[in-house]
Amino acid sequence: MCPDSGLTEYAFIGRSNVGKSSLINMLCERKKLAMTSSTPGKTLLINHFLISSVFTNKCDAKEKQWFLVDLPGYGYAQRGKREMAKLENLISHYIIDRKQLTCLFVLLDIRLKPQQIDLEFLEWLGENEIPFAIVFTKADKVKEGEKKHNIQVYLNTLKERWEELPTYFITSSEKRIGREDVLEFMETFL
Ligand code: GTP
Ligand code: MG
Repeated sequence: MCPDSGLTEYAFIGRSNVGKSSLINMLCERKKLAMTSSTPGKTLLINHFLISSVFTNKCDAKEKQWFLVDLPGYGYAQRGKREMAKLENLISHYIIDRKQLTCLFVLLDIRLKPQQIDLEFLEWLGENEIPFAIVFTKADKVKEGEKKHNIQVYLNTLKERWEELPTYFITSSEKRIGREDVLEFMETFL
């Protein structure tokens, strides 16, 4: 069951093991808030994490609350057909029906070439007009040159299908790269 408070939600999705739960922990500066694992398929439910933050400007300080939502990974074949179908159903209902879902972060492993399953998923988001941003993960695992090259290859692939390129972030949960950028982007919607 999802909470019905109506607070803004940002959800994280991507292939199993891409680093969704680790990214949530990094953003929250907590090591074990979202369960992570080197074994794919760890997250099996929709997990909501309530975040409270105080924003200050010249005049006043305001406390804001929102949710970070950890979704199960897609495309983990070992799960078996029935379980996969059940999870896909759960995920797609959440994404399509959840009115307070403000932005879906689609995570892509920066080491990999564009994968069919991710491209198809992005296509599906487009068809359903779901607002999303891309987060490249595990940036600590590649050298600078490879990082730039892989991102360019990805953007070129997206250009073939999309008129406008999505916002994207380069992150490493291990080395805490990209944390401020992602949080600042979230803040713009609050
Ligand atoms: P599921 O819940 O199974 O879909 O996986 P997930 O996408 O939540 O991945 P998770 O955060 O559990 O991370 C999977 C593995 O990748 C773990 O062993 C993490 O330690 C590792 N990992 C995640 N992010 C990074 C990163 O930025 N750098 C490195 N080096 N490893 C990472
Ligand atoms: Mg997970």
